[in-house]
Amino acid sequence: MDRNNWKPSIIYMLCAWCGTGGSETAGALWLKYPENIRPFRVPCTGAIDPSYVLRALLEGADGVVISGCHPGDCHYNVGNFRARRRIAVLKTILDTFGLGDRLWLRWVAHGEGKRYRDTALSFNEHIKKLGPNPLKSWKS
Ligand code: FES
Repeated sequence: MDRNNWKPSIIYMLCAWCGTGGSETAGALWLKYPENIRPFRVPCTGAIDPSYVLRALLEGADGVVISGCHPGDCHYNVGNFRARRRIAVLKTILDTFGLGDRLWLRWVAHGEGKRYRDTALSFNEHIKKLGPNPLKSWKS
């Protein structure tokens, strides 16, 4: 496999408010980010069941990044605090399988298109360094 030309499959889970707004602001500003990043909109990061992340990785995603409102700005008050706790626990579990680095949580506000784009670029490069999800070879 040619790592330089390899495009990882990345799922980008975005809350419907700030996360999605950040991606829209990036689009409005014509900020480019890799096309292999697939947005997945959820009402709130607090609505992300950890099984969504596990399923994405089991189904062949190379990485999952989650963005939502900054702490204190969640439109459902504490959704992002719940998400932060769940993701921390999930990362610990994923670490036991060597997969914890394939999950990021990053806060992005509606007007932070550049932060959204920079997160997408950084995560893409991070996953490229890690290589393909080892579960892919296990699955086939
Ligand atoms: Fe954005 Fe809750 S609505 S994290």
